[in-house]
Amino acid sequence: MSVSDSPAQLDSAGRLRHLLTLDGLPRSTLVDLLDRAQACLDDDAPNARLAGTAICTLFFEPSTRTRLSFQRAAQRLGADVLGFDASTSSTTKGETALDTFRNIEAMGVRGFVVRHSADGAVAALAAAAAPGVALLNAGDGRSAHPTQGLLDMLTLRQAKGADFSGLRVAIVGDVRHSRVARSDLQALRTLGAGEIRVCGPAALLPDGDVLAGCTVGHDLDAALEGVDAVMMLRLQRERMDEGLVASLDDYHRDYGLDARRLRRAAPDAVVLHPGPMNRGVEITDEVADGPQSLILRQVRNGVAVRMAVLDALLG
Ligand code: CP
Repeated sequence: MSVSDSPAQLDSAGRLRHLLTLDGLPRSTLVDLLDRAQACLDDDAPNARLAGTAICTLFFEPSTRTRLSFQRAAQRLGADVLGFDASTSSTTKGETALDTFRNIEAMGVRGFVVRHSADGAVAALAAAAAPGVALLNAGDGRSAHPTQGLLDMLTLRQAKGADFSGLRVAIVGDVRHSRVARSDLQALRTLGAGEIRVCGPAALLPDGDVLAGCTVGHDLDAALEGVDAVMMLRLQRERMDEGLVASLDDYHRDYGLDARRLRRAAPDAVVLHPGPMNRGVEITDEVADGPQSLILRQVRNGVAVRMAVLDALLG
């Protein structure tokens, strides 16, 4: 889905009405959100900008980081936060996601943070939303995870500076099934990253124009040579059942990032991973917990990015 397919994301004045995808989002809007997030980090005090505003975290798929950091962000802006647990909700009696959304909307909720397994599900709810109600995509299918993309860009910007034109980035692993990779790729292109390398087994790389402009390869050692940042992706273990990966050991041997391999990157290269990690599969403990890892910085930045997005849409 691109912004042009989804007129609901921007209003007629070009302002964000919902946040559904980073695909096609103007560079100025993306940079403004990153600047707002940095300002939230620089001034750490809670405020009451969303006092009296009700926000629901409507998650139809599991989450730790995204759900809790959105809740934390909303609390720091003074909002009222309603949690929704699909496993104890009336969806177990057959209620649809759309009916669930409409009923919670009728309670006066103005902001919905939605995660769903189906591509386009959040955009479909946005199309049904009343005026003044904002939808924030917390991950839909393999399509988009825009706030993860934003927090990854904020983390890279803090580490490497705002000018991405000289930045060499490697994205490694299961790109085919990754909404994080799609949002990262869209944001890196918009911000003008100098070189984007994508590396993974052929069965886990996507077709079509997802990788447009990227250098694509299957040799991790070659992909890491001289890069400034390595963005590791979770191996979605459920893909084992589909026969796309022979074994975890084979995957680790060919695509696991360990300290020896990381030495091929630039000496000051940074390592990102969106979480949750499969330690010992796509990343070793020594890299995940090592001095080049920004993985917990990403999580901290996630709260600030989500404050910025909530404020931009609802403040
Ligand atoms: N990165 C990420 O989306 O993590 P969660 O699934 O825990 O939210």
